[in-house]
Amino acid sequence: MRAIVCKEMGPPRSLRLAEIPSPEPGSGEVLIRVEGAGVNFPDSLIIEGKYQVKPALPFVPGFEVAGTVLEIGRGVTSFKPGDRIMSLTANTVGGFAEEAIVTAEQAVVIPGVMDGITAAAFYSSYGTSYHALVERGHLRQGETLVVLGAAGGIGLATIEIGKALGARVIAVASTKEKLDVAKAHGADELVNYRSEDLARRIKQLTDGKGADVCMDTVGGDAFDSMSRNMNYNGRLLIVGFASGTIPRLAVNLLLLKGYQAVGVFWGPAVARDPEKHRENFRRLGKLYAEGKLNPRMSGVYPLERTAEAIEALLSRRETGKLVVSPLESDGSR
Ligand SMILES: NC(=O)c1ccc[n+]([C@@H]2O[C@H](COP(=O)([O-])OP(=O)(O)OC[C@H]3O[C@@H](n4cnc5c(N)ncnc54)[C@H](OP(=O)(O)O)[C@@H]3O)[C@@H](O)[C@H]2O)c1
Repeated sequence: MRAIVCKEMGPPRSLRLAEIPSPEPGSGEVLIRVEGAGVNFPDSLIIEGKYQVKPALPFVPGFEVAGTVLEIGRGVTSFKPGDRIMSLTANTVGGFAEEAIVTAEQAVVIPGVMDGITAAAFYSSYGTSYHALVERGHLRQGETLVVLGAAGGIGLATIEIGKALGARVIAVASTKEKLDVAKAHGADELVNYRSEDLARRIKQLTDGKGADVCMDTVGGDAFDSMSRNMNYNGRLLIVGFASGTIPRLAVNLLLLKGYQAVGVFWGPAVARDPEKHRENFRRLGKLYAEGKLNPRMSGVYPLERTAEAIEALLSRRETGKLVVSPLESDGSR
């Protein structure tokens, strides 16, 4: 099969397209024919040896895949050949290839109305966002939800799920173009944190009360502003640090304002309660079928252009998700 191989740690340009043997599914694993592989920030880290998992060289990068089951490993009863599934890859590698191995426990069925490329853009963003808002943030109808990094993969998913759950959504991003996309995905209010004072705008938009729930995938200065702008009983969801800065929280703010800071880590939550994970995706599938969720892909790249896809993600210009597909040949969509 064709696959993108990392032979030595380095930047995306050091990745090579190669012909390698198909992998074989072990116990509890499933082999799929890949239709789409989502591009995620950790892909850029793992090929440079900067991720917490350091696979032995050579390896095939790629965290997130969707496609059709070709073969099941020992003990797998939940899927059979021909099923269409989406998942993270086993051991967080192997996705940028024509075939990939996933663990059956993490995989979920692709909703019937969704194609495989869209599924690769859907799985981790919407899965993380739903887990964060519902299980960790207990978002309720009528509450105000502030979304940092609002035009990113998780950001747009959070806007849509937040609206579907009945929240008023304030989207925060760095450019007008990104805010236009956030608006198109349902945001009620828009804040450009580069040209406006984030703290002042959140105060204005919430009558001085602050956010009931804040989804933070960014960290850095935006987190500092929001840590001072949470409503009483609010939930500040700590999901990621795309800015590269892990902020410090002055815990006196929790005491003074009476809100909670809540850590969100989706992968371990899936492993802890796979049945809950499948239930979350049944609900997400229903929202998708109702037309309430519209995953955005700003690019679909053929396998041989995987390096460009990872570079595009790092450029910070993109909105929504980037997907690599062994089925695509021209890189456009
Ligand atoms: N906790 C979990 O379970 C979990 C699960 C999945 C992903 N994550 C993490 O969540 C974060 C966001 O994921 P995502 O898929 O939404 O990423 P994404 O699509 O790349 O979006 C990240 C957003 O962060 C903002 N940003 C601010 N400073 C940035 C910088 N220096 N470089 C790049 N982006 C910057 C950008 O928006 P502006 O330009 O508008 O600022 C960008 O749209 C990542 O760090 C990821 O690793 C966590």
